[in-house]
Amino acid sequence: MGPIALAWALATNPLECWTREHFEKPIVRVGLPIGEAVLVHEPGAIRRVLLDNTANYRKDALQRRVLSAGLGDGLLSAEGEQWQVQRRTLAPMFARRTVTNFAPAMMSAADALVDRWSQRGDGQIVDVAAEMTRTTLDVLERTIFSDGLGCDAERFRIAMGTYFNTLGRIDPLDLLGAPAVVPRIGRWRVRSTLRFFDAAIDSIIATRRRRLAEQFGNAPKDILTLLLDALDPATGKRMTLAEVRSNILTFITAGHETTANSLSWSLFLLSQSASWRERIQAEADREIGGPVEGLAERLVETRSVVEEAIRLYPPIAAISRVAIGADELAGQAIKAGSIVVIAPYVLHRHRGLWNSPDAFDPERFVGDSRKGIDRFAYLPFGTGPRTCIGSGFALQEATILLAAIMHHFSLRMVPDHVVWPILRVTLRLAGGLPMTVERRQSGGRNGVVSGLSTLPQPQRSPEQVPTIQNV
Ligand code: HEM
Repeated sequence: MGPIALAWALATNPLECWTREHFEKPIVRVGLPIGEAVLVHEPGAIRRVLLDNTANYRKDALQRRVLSAGLGDGLLSAEGEQWQVQRRTLAPMFARRTVTNFAPAMMSAADALVDRWSQRGDGQIVDVAAEMTRTTLDVLERTIFSDGLGCDAERFRIAMGTYFNTLGRIDPLDLLGAPAVVPRIGRWRVRSTLRFFDAAIDSIIATRRRRLAEQFGNAPKDILTLLLDALDPATGKRMTLAEVRSNILTFITAGHETTANSLSWSLFLLSQSASWRERIQAEADREIGGPVEGLAERLVETRSVVEEAIRLYPPIAAISRVAIGADELAGQAIKAGSIVVIAPYVLHRHRGLWNSPDAFDPERFVGDSRKGIDRFAYLPFGTGPRTCIGSGFALQEATILLAAIMHHFSLRMVPDHVVWPILRVTLRLAGGLPMTVERRQSGGRNGVVSGLSTLPQPQRSPEQVPTIQNV
């Protein structure tokens, strides 16, 4: 691409910058106004950048600016000593056992979605992408603030929508490397929203602190209590109010649209594969309604669909770092200051790393098959010290929600709607995901399915599933 076409693509849909070459070569170099970018999709080189030589690669200014605007110094944007302290303080909150305790809250968000859709009546067209965003936000509300958002709940939700819609773009000034003090119009517009968030979260924190002081042991066991109680295991210190607030906003930002997109892509892919749809419905009919404890672990095939969906459509489509000093990656010299881009979107469809890379085949993640996947060829959650802290939370949530939806409903694509991925911080569906929703005739919770949807479904072999290359 020439410089103008490249700048346009980066500003509108950076995903469209990738060419065939990127999916075939281990390393591709590109000149950008802000310096050289090196696109690295070779497992050994990725291991060096994200794990073995992390001291030489820090998060680059562009990613920090785009992802972190308004997040203050939460875990996602913090660096150095501050990041280390926060990571070890927050780690127990996302440990397996703690995450398992959140399963009932996730199931109640699923129940709320089922009630909402059931009330609409059969045959309604629903923007499934918007509904997934709403539901994952509901999960975060139920797990972070389990006693509610207070009287400003609706305003809080509306402000959240404004925040995400405005921040989703790479500002041309960021690409030109303009200093942070130069105001970006998008950020300028969300200033008052951010001020409102700060004030709303501070008031929720103050109420909880009072509750913890007055009714110790009786306060909700949610993420907010865990954050306020968390101690740095090395120093015994608590986080400051600013850090608690930044991390709440960080969890909401990092955890809500990413998980929503993985669900939307899963539902889209399932709508294209009759055999997987039937397998997932059978698993969901067997497990949904049984004990919530251990549910996500029993939903083995449902989880494999989510894992395959985030292979084909990784919500974080590109991870970038800046080289502090010179290095060598896959036999090529890397200059200090180069931007190293590792794009899960490209990596997960790389011709040299995957069989039938564009095919939807969740079988890759079932049982022993997953042992054949190189650890550095599948990175929806990144890897190394800065790997996603919420990966277990996200996978459990997406698995439970997907199974609940598949148990209760039959979804099919609206004819003529073209599905197209668009990168706006996360990998979304351009124009949403309009689908026709029908209630399945299941015998209630854990009931026997007496009839699957008889509506005609487009029959496609996995190879024909539309992707960016063959739509
Ligand atoms: C499917 C859903 C998700 C995906 C695909 C995803 C992906 C990622 C990726 C790729 C990174 C690493 C970025 C880098 O190395 O530059 C990351 C970091 C992070 N994620 Fe997630 N994430 C998801 C869900 C969540 C959830 C649910 C939470 C929290 C509730 C969360 C919180 C974070 C945080 C705090 C970081 C920064 C970690 C650090 O720097 O130490 N994410 N995520």
